[in-house]
Amino acid sequence: MSQQTYVMLKPDAVANRHIGEIVARFERAGLMIKRMELTNVTSEQAAANYAEHQGKPFYDGLISYITSGPVVKMILEGPDAVAIARKLMGATNPRDAAPGTIRGDFGLVMDANVIHGSDSPESAQREIAIFFSE
Ligand code: RTP
Ligand code: MG
Repeated sequence: MSQQTYVMLKPDAVANRHIGEIVARFERAGLMIKRMELTNVTSEQAAANYAEHQGKPFYDGLISYITSGPVVKMILEGPDAVAIARKLMGATNPRDAAPGTIRGDFGLVMDANVIHGSDSPESAQREIAIFFSE
């Protein structure tokens, strides 16, 4: 069944000129781009997106990082889009992400791990509402 997921190329991916290569991987896997925009994340959006991590030791760094420069936000659609996108992304820590995954190929450290993707269909709907409210 077709499903939507929210994916965001983080500031390091944009700064390192990896937008094209990363987006190509999602298209090659068969996911359809429904919306895509180069933009800055507001602190309100960052707080809403990462509400589950509030109070954790890495929270402040995470918020300042995600608002530190332009990102590419997108809605991807396809069968099992949430799980497919997460598989292409690889493990959260680039150190543990397999070669061939986005974080394995383009990331080095947990603090700047290239990409965000919704972790469930419910998160996807919540995050799409945060970032594509218009
Ligand atoms: P994301 O939300 O960015 O797609 O990543 P994820 O689901 O794989 O990982 P999550 O647990 O939701 O963590 C969100 C982001 O917070 C940073 N983080 N740092 N230093 C740490 O222990 C730590 N843990 C998480 C990462 O940038 C992670 O992507
Ligand atoms: Mg997450």
